[in-house]
Amino acid sequence: MNVFEALNSRHTVRAYLPDPVDEKVIVDIMAAATRTPSWANTQPWEIFVTAGERLERLRSAVLTAFREGEPPGQDMPRPETWPPLLERRMRELGQQRFEALGIGRGEEDARRAQSEMGIAFFGAPAVAFLCMDKTLTAWSVFDLGMLAQSIMLAAAEHCLGTAVAFAFVAYPQLIRAELGVPENLSVVIGIALGKEDEDHVQNSYRSPRRPVTEVVRTAGFSPGQSSL
Ligand SMILES: Cc1cc2nc3c(=O)[nH]c(=O)nc-3n(C[C@H](O)[C@H](O)[C@H](O)COP(=O)(O)O)c2cc1C
Repeated sequence: MNVFEALNSRHTVRAYLPDPVDEKVIVDIMAAATRTPSWANTQPWEIFVTAGERLERLRSAVLTAFREGEPPGQDMPRPETWPPLLERRMRELGQQRFEALGIGRGEEDARRAQSEMGIAFFGAPAVAFLCMDKTLTAWSVFDLGMLAQSIMLAAAEHCLGTAVAFAFVAYPQLIRAELGVPENLSVVIGIALGKEDEDHVQNSYRSPRRPVTEVVRTAGFSPGQSSL
């Protein structure tokens, strides 16, 4: 798969086949992905990957917490407000996804079931948690973000679908307890990995993007060569 194919075909996979992911494949993905650049080669990432019984135990613990109404408490909280345009895109994403799933406005149970699936790592057979020292700043989060995309592209080469999700790290203390993540590390984000269930309705939706002509401003290129 070439890089453009990988970039254009990657999408958030929200339903997986139960096929286990080989540990060797995970190591291969992580070896390539950790070639990601970082601030002065600080390589701030600590990666905890889980599968099998350990993952099932964690899945069951986070589901129980969610069902018992324990408030989520991510180590890195979401912004309280977003710029209005971004807020609108977020709302549109929700509307379009629910529409693709045939879930109407008032169907609170179905909406809650969707949240549960996110909390439970969308049923993926493997999950990677990206962590970094709590004292680090946004620059290291930037590094982790690039690492996350590298992991997802390397996974695509192994024919694995992925999902990066804030919902996966809703209960960091449970992740710490199950995987032995030290207290000095923030559990920043999780990435699910596994074979995509291609026929599942959860995976039928493809998110749009702003046109490149709106996003990119160019200056100084040779006249007549621009395709923007
Ligand atoms: C930092 C981050 C957090 C995310 N958290 C969630 C999440 O909690 N639940 C979810 O379903 N998707 C989550 N996503 C996936 C985004 O909704 C998705 O990437 C976006 O809508 C674009 O769709 P695509 O990945 O299919 O191209 C997250 C993505 C990122 C980068």
